[in-house]
Amino acid sequence: MRTIIEPFRIKSVEPIRMSNRDERSMLLEAAGFNLFRIPADAIIVDLLTDSGTGAMSAAQWGAMMQGDESYAGSPSFRRFEAAVRDIFGFRHVIPTHQGRAAERILAATMLRPGDVVPNNTHFDTTRANIEAVGATAVDLPCAESRDLSAFHPFKGNIDLAALERLLADPPGRIPVVFVTVTNNGGGGQPVSMANLEAASALCRRHGVPFYLDACRFAENAFFIRQREPGFEGVPLLEIARRMFALADGCTMSAKKDGMANIGGFLCTNDDEVARHEEELLILTEGFPTYGGLAGRDLEAIAVGLYEALDPAYQEYRHASVQYLGEHLTAVGVPILQPPGGHAIYVDAAAFLDHLPRHHYPGQALSVELFRHAGIRSVEIGSVMFGRRDPASGAEAFAERELVRLAIPRRTYTQSHIDYVIEAFAELAAARRRIPGITIVEQPLALRHFSASFALAPPRPA
Ligand code: F0G
Repeated sequence: MRTIIEPFRIKSVEPIRMSNRDERSMLLEAAGFNLFRIPADAIIVDLLTDSGTGAMSAAQWGAMMQGDESYAGSPSFRRFEAAVRDIFGFRHVIPTHQGRAAERILAATMLRPGDVVPNNTHFDTTRANIEAVGATAVDLPCAESRDLSAFHPFKGNIDLAALERLLADPPGRIPVVFVTVTNNGGGGQPVSMANLEAASALCRRHGVPFYLDACRFAENAFFIRQREPGFEGVPLLEIARRMFALADGCTMSAKKDGMANIGGFLCTNDDEVARHEEELLILTEGFPTYGGLAGRDLEAIAVGLYEALDPAYQEYRHASVQYLGEHLTAVGVPILQPPGGHAIYVDAAAFLDHLPRHHYPGQALSVELFRHAGIRSVEIGSVMFGRRDPASGAEAFAERELVRLAIPRRTYTQSHIDYVIEAFAELAAARRRIPGITIVEQPLALRHFSASFALAPPRPA
């Protein structure tokens, strides 16, 4: 059979309230055109994030009933630890309430002011946690990633030559090198095993620990199996183990390929680092056998990590994201090519090429997508990454103006995806009438979460 179906049937449903355009226009005004302020029950298809928004399986819900909520020594922790050790292979497994908590504890343990941390591309919380301790986060994406429309199988790779130069002549101490799989900041693009092997070897040669930001490790493993010579037919569990065997530790948000609604962990093979991290964990997250999670959350993750490695699940997930990407391209929407593992990134600057950068094409598109069809996306452009100088008011724009359509796991069906494609086709037909956006009010940091916007006045024809 050629049709790739959702490899599950639905046992429990959550109704979607069909908001209408007038209501959504009013909500947009009230929210200052900031989609983070829209009540979620007015959203028809929510593609804000794939993080913590997925559906759990019957097996996960069943396991949750076995959750043991003991403060210390919970058997739920033992099952969680056994699953993480089995797949990831690291000696120490430290549970945290989500990925950024793992990042914060790692930064406080391994980094000092003036240090430099390379990554293919830091996710924003990773960067923020590195900068919060006075270190510098350096992005080293591979050259192929610069061209949005170029097809390359592993656009998530780290630039090995740039990494080698940095390791040979660092402007500060490099206490750890990260690679993010898949590269969310770079379009959900995968990293090849060959690239991981080479990065790991460089780090070993320079005596620097090599870590993975493992949030979407199973999607990355599937891409390796699909695209890298020599991995055809290799079980995803085996590919994942080979990826992690190259590393000295990892940070993980279980809200992605842990298939859970909350949770994360931090792993290391270094006894001394682990001891310090566990001390910090007790201070802010909780005792090392629960780390800010309920025992039932640990159970859900222990089951979910294996479900993410189910080839039928990954085949369907990749087919679904790919289908969205191909059909958007067919209706004339420029996207970052090829489609990533968890999301499609629309090139809003190209799509709304009548808008100047100070009218924020990404924000303008995401506002119009919600108004038109009740679809929530997220701007990844100058609203998120640009900066306004508080003294001069001068604006530094981001390199790209993207809108991310992140697909929650096992949550929407093919017809929801078709609905998104139809909405884009209609917007494409009238794209030049989509108004720009201006910023009315903004905080100094992380402005996308709380800024207020207004529609820009239409430009004279
Ligand atoms: N690393 C990557 C690559 C991520 O994508 C995220 C979260 C984190 C770390 C932090 O994990 O949210 O559990 O604290 N990404 C979400 C997103 C929020 O929408 O891409 P967290």
